[in-house]
Amino acid sequence: MSGSAPWASGTTSDFSKLPKRGFFTVTNYETFEYDVLIIGAGGAGLRAAIEASTAGVKVGLVCKSLLGKAHTVMAEGGLAAALANVDDRDNWRVHFSDTMRGGQYVNNWRMAELHAKEAPDRVKELEAWGAVFDRTPDGKILQRNFGGHRYPRLVHVGDRTGLELIRTLQDHGIHQGITVHMEHTMVTLLKDGDRVTGAFGYDRERGRFKIFKAKAVVLATGGIGRAYQITTNSWEGTGDGQSLAYHAGAELADMEFVQFHPTGMIWPPSVMGLLVTEAVRGEGGVLRNKDGKRFMFDDIPDLYKNQTADNPEEGWRYCQGDRNARRPPELLTRDHVARCIRREVNAGRGSPHGGVFLDIAWIREKIPNATEHIKRKLPSMYHQFMQLADLDITQEPMEIGPTTHYTMGGVRVNGDTQMSTVPGLFAAGECAAGLHGANRLGGNSLSDLIVFGKRAGEFAAKFAKEHGAGQVNDAQIEQAARHALEPFDRGASTGGSAEGPYQVQHDLQEMMQSLVGIVRREDEMVRALDGLGKLRERARHVAVYGHREYNPGWNTAVDLKNLLTVSEAITRAAIERKESRGGHFREDFPNKDAASGKVNVIVGKNPDGSMQVRREPIPEMPAELKQVIEEMK
Ligand code: FUM
Repeated sequence: MSGSAPWASGTTSDFSKLPKRGFFTVTNYETFEYDVLIIGAGGAGLRAAIEASTAGVKVGLVCKSLLGKAHTVMAEGGLAAALANVDDRDNWRVHFSDTMRGGQYVNNWRMAELHAKEAPDRVKELEAWGAVFDRTPDGKILQRNFGGHRYPRLVHVGDRTGLELIRTLQDHGIHQGITVHMEHTMVTLLKDGDRVTGAFGYDRERGRFKIFKAKAVVLATGGIGRAYQITTNSWEGTGDGQSLAYHAGAELADMEFVQFHPTGMIWPPSVMGLLVTEAVRGEGGVLRNKDGKRFMFDDIPDLYKNQTADNPEEGWRYCQGDRNARRPPELLTRDHVARCIRREVNAGRGSPHGGVFLDIAWIREKIPNATEHIKRKLPSMYHQFMQLADLDITQEPMEIGPTTHYTMGGVRVNGDTQMSTVPGLFAAGECAAGLHGANRLGGNSLSDLIVFGKRAGEFAAKFAKEHGAGQVNDAQIEQAARHALEPFDRGASTGGSAEGPYQVQHDLQEMMQSLVGIVRREDEMVRALDGLGKLRERARHVAVYGHREYNPGWNTAVDLKNLLTVSEAITRAAIERKESRGGHFREDFPNKDAASGKVNVIVGKNPDGSMQVRREPIPEMPAELKQVIEEMK
């Protein structure tokens, strides 16, 4: 057990007196053995754990935070599934074509097909497991409008849908007997030859190293938002899964596509970036500049012209459920709305704190009980603004601006099985690439989690049954432990003079925000690459102090490796894609390029440790899916 050595137990801060590192061998570390190890306990991780455990294998789940605290709860407004409860014209074919159009056709079409077909069953299953969704007057699951979805499709619980999803999966999973290791950070995946054989990390509470042997591993660690300064992501969103996979030899795809959600809080500064759900616009909220103008009518992309209202009255009728009305331009896709907001701000038509206004209070002109209606439909938003900004959204407009919310890119996986290019290593949810292409539609993330979380769990369990346990490599573990502890050595040897990890993290976030943000240019991104090299060098020399128990400085130093890896992947992929598409907008290539629209950008690790970027043709779509897209046009 690791607790036998003072160094390992982390009970002293006098590191100069500690024994040499060789004292700690792999035999000191507590070891767990599972058939399937799942890393991450958001919607995808929990759903994968449930499925693997149902398949009869032994499942371990490790998560960086406390169970129940995941970015999944930040998908507030709903979960997209073509149940056709509110509009009977909806079906998987419309959902499939909406997802492909939103993703600007660089999606993994197989994933988009499976997602559209399977989401309704996954929702019914959630309901059977106890999820309490809002209802229609005749008792069906209620569905609401969201950007880019042709019909009201988002199953929801007020504006707390992600929370309800997590609660339901957590309750169900725990009763299924899944072992959970909370507050654990994984520093490396373990490999035997090509295949993965587990993971190695430490518990954040005591700082003790632990070995998790497994026949298959599922990554479900979420996104990369913390690579940016303004984000909806909490501290966990540091790209751990993408980085672990990359360093284990897996490929990443589409990393250039980062989603900037158009509506985050911008005031007061302490809550900058916090999500303001798209459901506000789904319920009739409108965007205005400082002159009170609804600027979204000024620019409607050709792809959506025939689906978008050209006057406010029609847009309002749409939000009220009029089947013949077209959506208001506020419900265009997120990439477009975010850029229109930026345009208004840059033109000097923004709000006092550098955003624009989002107004739901205006519906008082339209419905008599508006105040109660808003509080019932958007309870979290009401409380969020009341408590954090001292603003009553039933009476006044909110000030909002774009915030880094989601990454469409991630670990490259097989669309059916979710296995990465490394045997035995699976990925699901936000840390996997494919489903969303260049831009994700709101609500498609929660459905992604349950559709592909299930598939990852199912196929990881199958892999575990078909393959014996591989070997774990002691040398790899020792090296990872040594590397993880180096910042303490530097803390002890430099006597407090070395730089800590926080400044490096802060500078990285600031640089990514300004040089690889909503609008990009080659010269700026090349500067970012140079900056990343310098930040990497600084990260190599950061020092931490104190002992290993609850040491946030140490945790940040460990996270830096992941943040730097995903930032480099985003920047290199963004330089490679010389066009504008979805979440990737280039001022120097402002249009779509037909040839680029036929490729994915793939990132991999060269044998010398450098990062490789290449283009790969998107596989030909089968004729029947092409026909679906044609019909829906
Ligand atoms: O705006 C929202 O409620 C976010 C939803 C999502 O990202 O899917």
